[in-house]
Amino acid sequence: MLTADAPSSARVAPHRAAQAPTYQQVIARDAVPPLPIFTEVAPSEVAVDAVDRTRYLDPAFAQAEREAMWSRVWYLAARVEQVPEAGDFITYEGPLGSLIVVRDDAGTIRAFRNSCPHRGMKLCVGDGAVARITCPFHSFSWHLDGSLAHIPSRWDFAEAESRDLSLPAVRAEEWQGFVFVNHDPAAPPLDQYLGRMLTDFAAWDHGKRYAAKILRKTMHANWKACIETFIEAFHLVGIHPQALPFGGDTSAQYDVWPDQPHMSRMLQPLGIKSDQYPRDISEQDILAAAMQTIMGPEADVPVLSEDATARAFLAQMLRSNPATPAISDTELLDAMQYSIFPNVVLFRSTFYPYLYRFTPDAADPNRTTYDFYLFEPLPEGEEVPPPVEIIELADDTAYSQSGVFPPWLGQIYDQDTEGLARLQAGLRAGGHDQIVYARYQEVRLRQLHQVLDSYLARGPVVQAT
Ligand code: FES
Ligand SMILES: [Fe+2]
Repeated sequence: MLTADAPSSARVAPHRAAQAPTYQQVIARDAVPPLPIFTEVAPSEVAVDAVDRTRYLDPAFAQAEREAMWSRVWYLAARVEQVPEAGDFITYEGPLGSLIVVRDDAGTIRAFRNSCPHRGMKLCVGDGAVARITCPFHSFSWHLDGSLAHIPSRWDFAEAESRDLSLPAVRAEEWQGFVFVNHDPAAPPLDQYLGRMLTDFAAWDHGKRYAAKILRKTMHANWKACIETFIEAFHLVGIHPQALPFGGDTSAQYDVWPDQPHMSRMLQPLGIKSDQYPRDISEQDILAAAMQTIMGPEADVPVLSEDATARAFLAQMLRSNPATPAISDTELLDAMQYSIFPNVVLFRSTFYPYLYRFTPDAADPNRTTYDFYLFEPLPEGEEVPPPVEIIELADDTAYSQSGVFPPWLGQIYDQDTEGLARLQAGLRAGGHDQIVYARYQEVRLRQLHQVLDSYLARGPVVQAT
């Protein structure tokens, strides 16, 4: 790993050769310097340069993912604030079927397969609050810790005395208010799985934040295509060209560490012109493009002094907002974006207080449920807000019409949604068997497939009996 005290021009993965300044060069000029975690540069070298396109299309491959990968990994099932009181539950239609996440009488959050041990009925639908979990078919019931409470016509189940009729439990562990689950009794604990995420988020605790909005939309693409679109900034040139004058895509730093299989990050600086923008423009032009895109065409763009930069002005503008904490320019402005294998993207920045989760459709590899979480700080000394309802956006409802985003961001997500449907259609059209990934800007995609392959190589999980 290259260290923070190396010259800033050297602090870049050796195979990155874009003309745009590196992220390290950008933040070295910031007025309020970054934390040491952001001056680190990973090797970001992964050998997987191409994959068979069938892994985005083939139901058999999706089945192999379920058997060998989803059944072993920690995946995100809920936020703690969705189940604040004993008896509160939500259901999650997850990659291995429906789960119940419930807070028991002792305050512990538990997860169960949403399937009755009697004849398999789905036990819970949606969310709610219960004193016991009761099956709607023949009214077996369970305490909130999953232990059996009642069997109607108990005399008729004498043969079943020796069977375990408690609810089928799945491991559940919490980190910063996120409830992760794991179906594998032999999996390492969640903290070990998350690795460096614990360090990088130590000073950015989502336990002190809550999900103020959750949006759900079906994406017409495979779950991997979905997350891959969000973990590289390379596609600004085709999908979001309006952001090229200021989006910093070719200055983004991509970090993949060889000893961190379950996380990666992208640090994408705002207020920096892209290599892909076809002409030279002044700092004044960069500022105008950024402000008019983000705030609207009527934005009041000031005249910059001779040696001022658009980035410095934007940082100062955000810093003068009393609601923004006293943090570095990069945490104020930039997309500090982390991924948690296999299907979560989590930001660590003021400007983008978001999490994305991509859940594969169990029946169709061409469809994914995309959950978008918007976080706000928990109000100090005030009542914790009640859990939010999930807002479901229909196929014909655009993000820009949801009322949740400023127009420019709604436009970005709409562009991604349309782009993903077209990508999946293109994958289905065939052609070369393999698709290829860029060495640096798509290194996080390479890592995703490398880690997926390592799970697949271990074969299906043999279920403990
Ligand atoms: S299927 Fe649940 S009680 Fe019969
Ligand atoms: Fe995008």
